[in-house]
Amino acid sequence: MSQAQLALPGLATEAAAEWVWSEEAFDSMDPPAFAHETVMRAEVIAALAPVADAGAVFVDATVGGGGHTEGILETHPEVRVIAFDRDEVALGAARERLARFGDRVTFVKTTFGDVESVLAKLGIETVSGVCADLGVSSPQLDDASRGMSFRREGPIDMRMDRSGGETALELVERLSDDELADIIFHYGEEKRSRRIARSVKRALAEGQLSTTLDLRRAIVRAVGPVRVGGVDPATRTFQALRIAVNAELEQLEALLEALPRVVRIGGRVAILSFHSLEDRLVKRAFQDRDTWAPLSKKPLVASEEEASANPRARSAKLRAAVRIEPGAGPERSGVRQAFGGGGTP
Ligand SMILES: C[S@@+](CC[C@H](N)C(=O)[O-])C[C@H]1O[C@@H](n2cnc3c(N)ncnc32)[C@H](O)[C@@H]1O
Repeated sequence: MSQAQLALPGLATEAAAEWVWSEEAFDSMDPPAFAHETVMRAEVIAALAPVADAGAVFVDATVGGGGHTEGILETHPEVRVIAFDRDEVALGAARERLARFGDRVTFVKTTFGDVESVLAKLGIETVSGVCADLGVSSPQLDDASRGMSFRREGPIDMRMDRSGGETALELVERLSDDELADIIFHYGEEKRSRRIARSVKRALAEGQLSTTLDLRRAIVRAVGPVRVGGVDPATRTFQALRIAVNAELEQLEALLEALPRVVRIGGRVAILSFHSLEDRLVKRAFQDRDTWAPLSKKPLVASEEEASANPRARSAKLRAAVRIEPGAGPERSGVRQAFGGGGTP
């Protein structure tokens, strides 16, 4: 029996089963080993290029498969990169892909919220450039055993770093109905959060909540199988739980809070976000005009060509800024060139 057939056994309508089937058709059952299509690679490199002097040190806060770091190291032969990831599997893939750059790249298994202390341990006070490509990678979503996708049966885990911390199932077990609903509402921006939380907790109490497909089934029981605006009914709840399990917004806040201290004056930061909660935090941080001169008023989005080739790029928003001295005023030189004259979505 396929995953699609397993998805909603016993669920009332045939339409529901049919819907799951067609949804499943978009997915390959056997994802490739570690394939992550880097989003807005050229734009991130361009945003950081003006500070890629000889001897400059950059931080890639989310090295993942290594796409952005590879682009930086290839384009700027005299730049070194400190590459972070909290996921051992991603770091392993990046190490392999970037082996040819030798000691120009240093890998650190860490959360980027700890950027300041990690750099201090490496004896680095400030860096010239920082990039961050937020959220999860395609391999993390595609690997059923990580439990991040509602399309693949796996444990309800969702941790990016599997060496510790609470899984999504443990989180659901610990929270009350109301607390769970709040998380689904705030992190998933899901209006039907109360109904969903009740249904998920009921499934748990009935011993019917072991796998991601059980979780999806509980969500569909609460809100029905209909896609709203082309979005799977489970999308928002899965996103919310993943954000909570990995403290994604707290991590981003900690990074944004530390950046003014770890980026040298004149240094640059480029952050790619994939949903409004993240983008709002980045936007707000860059509004501190004593600290940052944003490279553009509006975030840059992927070209039509990239968006049609890579669905993940469709929701990407790139914000970049120059670290300035208080009172220096906006330093915008090079900004328009760096963003190819664009900057508007
Ligand atoms: C979108 S992927 C990066 C892809 C990469 N830019 C590339 O092109 O291959 C995001 C990566 O960030 C990592 N990550 C997410 N949050 C993190 C955090 N708070 N600290 C460190 N790594 C994090 C994830 O484990 C994942 O590997």
